[in-house]
Amino acid sequence: EQQLTTAQLLLGKKVLVTAGPTREQVDPVRFFTNHSTGKMGYAVAKQAAKLGAEVTLISGPTNLSTPKGVHRINVQSAQEMYEQVMRHFEQQDIIIKSAAVADYRPKQTYDNKMKKTGGPLVMEMERTPDILKTIGEQKTSQYVVGFAAESTDVLHYGEQKLKKKNLDAIVINNIQEQGAGFGGETNKVIYLTAVGERIDFPLQSKEDVALHILQRIALQLKDDRR
Ligand code: CTP
Ligand code: CA
Repeated sequence: EQQLTTAQLLLGKKVLVTAGPTREQVDPVRFFTNHSTGKMGYAVAKQAAKLGAEVTLISGPTNLSTPKGVHRINVQSAQEMYEQVMRHFEQQDIIIKSAAVADYRPKQTYDNKMKKTGGPLVMEMERTPDILKTIGEQKTSQYVVGFAAESTDVLHYGEQKLKKKNLDAIVINNIQEQGAGFGGETNKVIYLTAVGERIDFPLQSKEDVALHILQRIALQLKDDRR
């Protein structure tokens, strides 16, 4: 009976997940990116689908296969991710932003391959749009969950992002901690909500982290509707 309840936890819910890194183009052969593999976000998408949700996964470049039953949209840059998220976010019940979005992109992109010169290169970078912050500002009834990868003052920065981006919850992970870095199979996270809950999850597989986060979200949504 316990299993039946779990299986239906997100039935009929629309869930939007973002995952992976973004690529910020310099010229036809070069780009800026980061170490995100997309595993955490794909685990969230997979578990949400298993819990009965209708899942849209907006993904930067990864080597991962699309989880069963998940509708996947591929993007490259932060700008493309922003556009796809904005196009889809209104009809969602839950938005989970685990993507590692580049904060900066080259101010100029070159149509032809850049040639080296004798001296050093200085490249001007500009800010990308903050997708999560925009959703936080525009959300109506959507439950919005962010991720934060921090290496110092983990709780402080996590709480700050929760407030600043008007989130309902944030998943904080300390990338310095054993088993919580990029690319691994495991993660150790702290879950904070806007209503003041704090849950310290033990080190566990990314799939279990995903399941437990989704269970918390489902419980909160049920609470909100009472
Ligand atoms: N995020 C986003 N758009 C951006 C940058 C970040 O949507 N341009 C989202 C990430 O997907 C994540 C959350 O914001 O869910 C936190 O990302 P993080 O990089 O930890 O925080 P930033 O706000 O970018 O702050 P900083 O990198 O300076 O710590
Ligand atoms: Ca950032």
